[in-house]
Amino acid sequence: MTRTLLLTGPQLTDDAMAHAASHGVRVIPTTPYAPAEELTAIIAREQPDAIIVRQGKLTREMINASAALKIIAKHGVGYDTIDIAAAAERSIPVTIALGANAQSVAEHALALMFSVARQTALLDARMRDGHWDKATSVGIELSGKTLGLVGLGAIGQILMELVAPLRMTIKVFDPYLADLPNVQRVASVDDLLASCDIISLHCPLTEQNRNLFGAAQFKRMRPGSILINTARGELIDTEALVHALSTGQIAGAGLDTFNPEPPPADSALWGLPTLVATPHVGANTAEARDRVGLLALQQIMDFWDGTAPPPRAVVNRHLYAH
Ligand SMILES: NC(=O)c1ccc[n+]([C@@H]2O[C@H](COP(=O)([O-])OP(=O)(O)OC[C@H]3O[C@@H](n4cnc5c(N)ncnc54)[C@H](O)[C@@H]3O)[C@@H](O)[C@H]2O)c1
Repeated sequence: MTRTLLLTGPQLTDDAMAHAASHGVRVIPTTPYAPAEELTAIIAREQPDAIIVRQGKLTREMINASAALKIIAKHGVGYDTIDIAAAAERSIPVTIALGANAQSVAEHALALMFSVARQTALLDARMRDGHWDKATSVGIELSGKTLGLVGLGAIGQILMELVAPLRMTIKVFDPYLADLPNVQRVASVDDLLASCDIISLHCPLTEQNRNLFGAAQFKRMRPGSILINTARGELIDTEALVHALSTGQIAGAGLDTFNPEPPPADSALWGLPTLVATPHVGANTAEARDRVGLLALQQIMDFWDGTAPPPRAVVNRHLYAH
């Protein structure tokens, strides 16, 4: 039986495409970030049995455009671009590629920490402009500092391992995590603010935690502290962050995610020398891309073979009507 799989974005790796073809799956890639109307029309025409969401949004209208749709897989783990409630209304599981890009994002978060602490991006730009700031640049070491993690899932846990040689004190806020040995947990984000030198965000964006970091939180953070965000831009109130950085309330920020993305050309962010910015590339490594594509495809093929995806990978299971 031939099944149709729509992929919002460019082709998967050769391995993944060959795997799909060998199982009789017809894969339909779309143009990068196809406009909503175009995507809805493609879905209505092709009636896919499954969709892998790689780029852009998957709306209620798009989900309901295919009567055949039975499973949606996110090509990644951030599922805020998918209307998971609309999928749940039709008992369509929405899966995420749990853990498949975690190593890359954790490495990127650590790179941002080092870069902010030592101002590497700024110094690089200054050198290219002919400056030699040897006498004036003073960084900070990460070693021995206190690191606060908001979310200790796949990425947070790898980051914890990566910083082990730096002998940092690690505090974790993650209300949904089962107890783990050797993890010092706090009861709220508030408990991290005044006690951490670096805070790094590794939780999903939900309806409850939009603007988790606003003016009140920045006021309570340590002067000299650093905020890292490789999770989602909407977790931070951008205006409050600009204020905190420009007044020196905190020492720096390393951001891979923004609200909106990309930030406008005239954003106040670009005037901040203590900001290190990257364009949402935390998971953009050859290794992660290959793992994520294969896992998303495998979740769909297992589902068709009658094996339900692991519950933790189904992000809308709590919304199903019982
Ligand atoms: N920059 C990038 O390219 C990139 C790539 C992958 C993931 N991400 C983001 O990173 C996030 C984390 O990814 P992951 O693979 O570690 O996911 P994960 O599901 O393995 O872990 C998320 C953790 O956050 C915890 N959590 C949930 N809600 C929370 C809350 N309100 N406060 C604190 N903790 C909370 C969960 O209990 C879980 O332990 C994703 O949701 C995604 O938004 C970004």
